[in-house]
Amino acid sequence: MNAMLKTIQADITTLDVDAIVNAANSSLLSGGGVDGAIHRAAGKDLLAECRMLNGCRTGEAKITRGYNLKARHIIHTVGPVWNGGKNGEPEKLRSCYANSLRIAAEHQLASIAFPCISTGVYRFPADQAAQIAVETVREFISKPSSLKQIIFCCFAAADRQRYEALIQEQDSQE
Ligand code: AR6
Repeated sequence: MNAMLKTIQADITTLDVDAIVNAANSSLLSGGGVDGAIHRAAGKDLLAECRMLNGCRTGEAKITRGYNLKARHIIHTVGPVWNGGKNGEPEKLRSCYANSLRIAAEHQLASIAFPCISTGVYRFPADQAAQIAVETVREFISKPSSLKQIIFCCFAAADRQRYEALIQEQDSQE
């Protein structure tokens, strides 16, 4: 059976899933937004593990334990900073989703939750980011893997509506 896609509106740090994805920066040493919230909720042992990872390039992803979170793992990925869209931003965002899913599957994980990567401080336009997220996930789950549930965890109601509309639109085309 292929994985199920689901959209929710929630604080990603509260989710009971195999992995949550963090929209980190290339230092992996915490910051604001969802990154800060994840580090606060997971506790200082997360920062200690992150220090050993030697950072992460834009579009790539690295996995750690979840520490004080209910989530067993955190997959840290670094989204592109939006700079007009002609500097490979869409491709890099696509890589964030694809690499996070690949790492989850390599670890035999069944459930994963994504925040809206790059759409906060990094200013990636929300509509285009959501399209890339849904397309990349759809492509990945068209092939069998350990993943059974993929959650788009939106913080804002507008993002939840955007994802719900996109998922319905694509479903009705199939
Ligand atoms: N749960 C789910 N989503 C959240 C939460 C939360 N607790 N908090 C914020 N969001 P951002 P970026 C949403 O700025 O644009 C950090 O400083 C938020 O509404 O967190 O990828 C890093 O260290 C938005 O939709 O990440 C980097 O320096 C989404 O998360 C930089 O920000 C992403 O917003 C990364 O910027």
